[in-house]
Amino acid sequence: MSTQTTGDPGTPVIELKDLHVHHRTRSGGLFRPSYVKAVNGVDFTISRGETVGIVGESGCGKSTLASVLVGLQTPTSGQVLFHGKPAIKRNASMHKKFGRSVSVVFQDPATALNPRMTIQDILTDPLQVHGIGTAASRAAKVRELLSLVGLPQSAAEVTPSNVSGGQRQRVAIARALALDPDIVVADEPTSALDVSVRAQVLNLLSDLKRELNLGMVFISHDIQTVRYVSDRICVMYYGKIVEEGSAEQVFDHPSNDYTKKLLGAAPSLLHI
Ligand SMILES: Nc1ncnc2c1ncn2[C@@H]1O[C@H](COP(=O)(O)OP(=O)(O)O)[C@@H](O)[C@H]1O
Ligand SMILES: [Mg+2]
Repeated sequence: MSTQTTGDPGTPVIELKDLHVHHRTRSGGLFRPSYVKAVNGVDFTISRGETVGIVGESGCGKSTLASVLVGLQTPTSGQVLFHGKPAIKRNASMHKKFGRSVSVVFQDPATALNPRMTIQDILTDPLQVHGIGTAASRAAKVRELLSLVGLPQSAAEVTPSNVSGGQRQRVAIARALALDPDIVVADEPTSALDVSVRAQVLNLLSDLKRELNLGMVFISHDIQTVRYVSDRICVMYYGKIVEEGSAEQVFDHPSNDYTKKLLGAAPSLLHI
C-alpha cells in the first residue's frame, strides 16, 4: 500500500550498530557528572513486514532505544542507518524522509494527543506539516484512517476526551499511519489501557501490520504480550540485548538465564 520504500528491498529500513545512549543523571556533580548507560552496545535491525518485539523490565532501556529509532534521541555513540545510509539529523531532506518513514505510538494516548484538537485536526496535522495533499484529499485520508482503525466517522468531530481510552489509542495509531510509514514503533501501546480492551488494540496492530506490510517494533515489559504479536524477539537487560531469536526459539528454548526468569515470572497482564 505504501510507496515510500526506497533502496534495496533486502536492506533493513533502520539498522543500529553498536549503539550507546548515556543519560546524565542528577546524582553527579557539576565537575563529576555521572551517567546511566541506558543503551549499552545494541545492534538491531527492522525491515518492512516483520514485527520485532523488545521485552525487558522497567528501566532496561527500551524507551531510550525507541526514541533513537524514531529520531527523537541522538545516540552517544554508534551508527543509525536509514535504508543502509547513515542517518544524519542535519541533512534536512533525509530528516524529513525519516520522519515520514518511521512513526511512533506511545504508551498513554491521554498525554500523547492534544486535548484541544479535534480528532480530525489531530489526523490532518501530520499531512499539513509535511505539505501533503489538498484540503479535500486530506479529509478523505482522515476518513480512510478512521475506518482503518475501526473508529466511527463521527469521531472526527470530537476531541480525544470524548472517546474511551481504547478509542484514544486507536486515534494515536491512526495518526501514526497518516504518512504511510514503513515502520511503526509501539512503546508499551497497551500498558495504559483497561485490561478489557488490550487484546482488541493488540489485534488491531497485528492486523494493520499484515494488511499494510508494515515493519513494527513492539515494546513491552510483558513477555506474553510480546509473544502474541512478534515474529522475532529481543530480550533487553540493563541496556543490552541478551537474547534474540524467533518467537518460538526464545519461548521454547531460551538460552539466557534472564529470559528464563522472565518466562517464569507472573502470568500475562493480558489475561488477568
Ligand atoms: N532523559 C533521561 N535522563 C536521565 N536518565 C534517563 C532519561 N531517560 C531514561 N533514563 C534512565 O535510563 C534508563 C533506561 O530508561 P528507559 O529507556 O525509560 O527504560 P524502559 O523504557 O525500559 O523502562 C533508566 O535508568 C532511566 O532512569
Ligand atoms: Mg519505557
